[in-house]
Amino acid sequence: MSDFSSAQQRHAALSAEIEAHNRLYYTQDAPTITDFEYDRLMQALLALESEHPSLLTSASPSQRVGSAPRDEFTQIRHEKPMLSLSNGFNDDDIFEFDRRLHKELGQPEETVFDYVAEPKLDGLAVSVLYENGQFKYAATRGDGKVGEDITQNVKTIRSLPLSLPAGAPDRLEVRGEVFMSHAGFSKLNAAQADAEKKVFVNPRNAAAGSLRQLDSKITASRPLDIFIYSLGVISDETFAMTHFDTLERLGALGFPICPLRERVTGAQGCLDYFSSLSKRRSALDYEIDGIVYKLDRLDWQRAAGFIAKAPRWALAHKFPAQEKSTIVRDIEVQVGRTGAITPVARLEPLFVGGVTVSNVTLHNQSEIARLGIRVGDTVVVRRAGDVIPQIVSVNLDKRAANSVAYEFPTACPVCGSGILVEGEGVIARCSGGLSCAAQVKQAIKHFVSRKAMDIDGMGDKIVDVLVDDKRIGDVADLYALSFEQIVSLEGFADKSAQNLIESIAKSRHTELPRLLYALGIPQVGESTAEQLANTFGSMDALADANVDRLESLPDIGPIVADNIVRFFDQDSNRLVIQSLFDRGVTYDEIDIADLPDPDSLPMAGKTIVLTGTLSSLSRSDAKKKLQALGAKVTGSVSKKTDMVIVGSDAGSKAAKAEELGIDMLDEDALLALIEA
Ligand code: IVH
Repeated sequence: MSDFSSAQQRHAALSAEIEAHNRLYYTQDAPTITDFEYDRLMQALLALESEHPSLLTSASPSQRVGSAPRDEFTQIRHEKPMLSLSNGFNDDDIFEFDRRLHKELGQPEETVFDYVAEPKLDGLAVSVLYENGQFKYAATRGDGKVGEDITQNVKTIRSLPLSLPAGAPDRLEVRGEVFMSHAGFSKLNAAQADAEKKVFVNPRNAAAGSLRQLDSKITASRPLDIFIYSLGVISDETFAMTHFDTLERLGALGFPICPLRERVTGAQGCLDYFSSLSKRRSALDYEIDGIVYKLDRLDWQRAAGFIAKAPRWALAHKFPAQEKSTIVRDIEVQVGRTGAITPVARLEPLFVGGVTVSNVTLHNQSEIARLGIRVGDTVVVRRAGDVIPQIVSVNLDKRAANSVAYEFPTACPVCGSGILVEGEGVIARCSGGLSCAAQVKQAIKHFVSRKAMDIDGMGDKIVDVLVDDKRIGDVADLYALSFEQIVSLEGFADKSAQNLIESIAKSRHTELPRLLYALGIPQVGESTAEQLANTFGSMDALADANVDRLESLPDIGPIVADNIVRFFDQDSNRLVIQSLFDRGVTYDEIDIADLPDPDSLPMAGKTIVLTGTLSSLSRSDAKKKLQALGAKVTGSVSKKTDMVIVGSDAGSKAAKAEELGIDMLDEDALLALIEA
């Protein structure tokens, strides 16, 4: 036998073995080998494929690890539209659904229909096509007619077969729901938080975010699962006569099918299933938001047909959002990395929607005002399909006579610095910056992170210990740490302490964008830091920039500009920056010789007001252009205003300008001014 054909045989055998283990592990929950042994099989497969690239077909189990990132998703037109479901909310809706179907099918009342009841999974619908037993492509639902090609991503879901056993229809399109289990969701979020990446609000969002990744390697790392619940196109008309048998046959072909499906009798059977599953809902390891009832006989399904975008033969019976009452023990505020202050209601713990809730975010000051909530109040907590519980209302009848209105703190509970409120009570921030103890740990963790100063080996736990032991109090103290201080920490030996000292030393010389990003100025991310560095060239120049100058930059709006100015206004922040430099931090200066002196700009010192609608550019673009010319753009007309730009439909500001005799320019004149 040639070298290649023996490799081919080994490849086929290994593929089959790996897929069998995938089924045991992901579909049947009954693995027979250890993860280590599984990895060895996969390594052997990858080795064969790298030696003989022609063995790497699109149905190889190695494809489950993801492939190179793409620029965008291409579109796939569904041969059969992907429909949605009509909803029912109470018993009457279910009886009515059953009655209507009888009428539609010309069946007497006495005929009792069989239905299949299955959980309504809260994830994302996908369609997967198999041709000649091989995984061909997978698409999202999209608008029902055209979806996005997510083939590479769906291939990474290991419970889904890549090839089907002999006897499968030549063309078989299956449809189902991709979801994330609660366990997988918690693990993913813990890992995301550790890596200081975005945490997801609920399993559905996590599944959606994971599935719509242009880089399928990311999808491969996410704990996604799928249950198949229906067919799209199929070449074999005789595949099954009922929906129940369709699911059985799909299960026999290796597809993961929800084990909770049941054939039930009549509308009452549906309702019995609903109440029994409602009780088990909280014990399930995945989110469901209702029950789907489907008429079992496929010939009757075909006869009943569709209305608009949903079949007449199916109904989604939605679970009501759960609401329960409890008492607010306290309202506290938490301080985040950039000083964001978030009020949290501490509740008398209650069990609602399947979870115990004892803390609920109140988001911000204006939400507190909207609810009118006070400590001691009895409140209604709702937990709907999503995971985050919320307070929906206050029961004023139960309010104690001696209750007092809640006052939002004006000083940071940790460091005592003033709290600044922006955006009509939507954003509150501790102004203590890098000197606030609550922010210190978070700020240091951000400072050392990979995209910031990139201090390798300085993990979260080490930062916690260093701060708790008062060995460091701000980011500059990192550069004063000695070998002795580090080696005396638990878990450190000479070598590891030396390595960390070297990483710290290595980070001393950096680039300005990194250093700016590392400072953790509120809302200054990597790209803003880059822009600031390229515009100002040095820390000093940026520290001296005023709001108008900052706002004139393309990606910087009034809030970010204000954040930057406030940050550098804080003495504590300036001190920390100075001590960074004193302790040897340096960066490459950026040559910005082209930057004009702000006083020499053509409109320096001019105050301008924009009013009315402009047709060729937005007001904010016009504002930026004027600011780039050195003008100050304000919102109201006064004696100090030098010029008013009047668009169409201008109102009182134009009238006021006229009254005060201020120069008025129309849009053409404005454009001429900008051009000049
Ligand atoms: S059947 C023509 N079965 O619910 C039938 N859908 O609200 C189409 N869904 O887009 C769907 N679990 O994403 C069906 N057991 C289940 C389902 C289910 C969840 C989703 C599906 C659909 C949406 C409609």
